[in-house]
Amino acid sequence: MSLNGVSQILIADDHAGIREMVAAMIESMGHRPLTAESGEAAVEILGLGTIDLLITDLVLPDMDGLEVLRRSKELSPLTPVILVTGYPSVDKAIQAIKAGAIEFLTKPFKREVLERSVSRALEERRLIEENQRLMTEANKLAVIQRLNQRLNDKLRELMNHNRISEVIGSTEDNESLFRHVVDLAAELTGGQRVSLMLLTPDGAALTIRASLGLSEHVARETRVPLGSGIAGAVAETRTPLLVTRTNTVPAFPDRPAVYSSPSFICVPLVISGEVLGVLNVAERAGGGDFTAEEFTLMQSLAQKAAIRVENNALYESIYCNLVDTLTTLVSTIEAKDPYTKEHSKRVTQVAVAIARTMGLPDADIESIQFASLLHDIGKIAVRDSILLKPDRLTAAEFDVIKTHPVVGESIVEPLNLIPAERRIIRHHHERLDGSGYPDGLRGDQIHLLARIVAVADAYDAMTTTRVYRRAMGQAYALNEFERTRGVHYDPDILDALQAVLAAESPALCAAS
Ligand SMILES: [Fe+2]
Repeated sequence: MSLNGVSQILIADDHAGIREMVAAMIESMGHRPLTAESGEAAVEILGLGTIDLLITDLVLPDMDGLEVLRRSKELSPLTPVILVTGYPSVDKAIQAIKAGAIEFLTKPFKREVLERSVSRALEERRLIEENQRLMTEANKLAVIQRLNQRLNDKLRELMNHNRISEVIGSTEDNESLFRHVVDLAAELTGGQRVSLMLLTPDGAALTIRASLGLSEHVARETRVPLGSGIAGAVAETRTPLLVTRTNTVPAFPDRPAVYSSPSFICVPLVISGEVLGVLNVAERAGGGDFTAEEFTLMQSLAQKAAIRVENNALYESIYCNLVDTLTTLVSTIEAKDPYTKEHSKRVTQVAVAIARTMGLPDADIESIQFASLLHDIGKIAVRDSILLKPDRLTAAEFDVIKTHPVVGESIVEPLNLIPAERRIIRHHHERLDGSGYPDGLRGDQIHLLARIVAVADAYDAMTTTRVYRRAMGQAYALNEFERTRGVHYDPDILDALQAVLAAESPALCAAS
């Protein structure tokens, strides 16, 4: 209210001489005096809310000075009041102070006395205002801190949910998913004993598929019948459960807690109304109770994990169907020509035998087994008049045949094959000297597995009768390989083929 250190001071006194004298003193102190000759007039001015200090006589013609003081406190609680009287008494002084007056002055008073009182009153008002301002600031700060806290809580919650989505989304197979779910549950809750239990295929019991903090024996041997114990009950009822020291197994009052931990979480993994299993989290680090927020997070984790399990099953089923469809397609293409019937199966047998003889790892053998069966899938795009032509192909027709490795690679694109498998399909007609197709690769540029399938493919072509010529036999094939050894075909692979043939595998020699 005080502007540039100038305060508005109201003087209420019915005696004009005293009013003017006090006003002059106030003015000389650098403040702005206002005057009222009655209690009502003083109250009216106070009602404007612009008065910094009230100096009032104890006796006014229309009301007692104490009444003016009381009304002043109602209208403007912060405005300090100095009471003045020409007839001092201890009683009145006590009443005035009790009613909230800051000073009780006796007339006549000197300027210095008034100035001291005015300074003290204004200083007190300033301190009260400052105090109020600080309290308002503190309140604002407390509100901001509360809002910040809530914002941080929300952010943390969001980050945790994102983390769940990120981790679940990055897993590829069920086993790594289960491992990640257990690790993430421990990370997000501080739980030191975590287990993911899934229903057995017959749906009769839960067994542990991944765990943390459990002995190997317990993890391996635990089997909880559906409906039995806490985990069995949660699975049966599909009701998530949070147990704390103050919330003891409310959903299952007839079941004793089988966990030694005073606080634990058990949530079901449910998909389309069917329960897959449960996630157990117990023994919080530090011994505290799990929180409602952690409980919610675990439910979210279990739900996302269940969806992922279902997606994996769907993907696997789609994948198997697609592979079945493609291998059937290959058989169909080959069946059009009685001479190429079962060609891909025989190529696969020879290629696998070569790879085994060369001591290649199981993963490579699996890749050969899978991709060899599909190596000619691209021939589906070649029309029968070319594919089944009994005469020599024209250059243009041969160009069409040469597209099949590239077409084949694009057909298997949705299968997300590993690079070696894709390269078997694309590069089984490449030759070491760069004379092959479709990319004209040379030597080691051709993947080893593609070089193996190239030999197996050529061997089968030479040892079976084709629509355009009769089978040329094993001896012819070996001679031809000798002629093109190191030029078209890898010498090590040819040696392996010879070793395979030397072992006289009836299955391999049957066609030759
Ligand atoms: Fe081919």
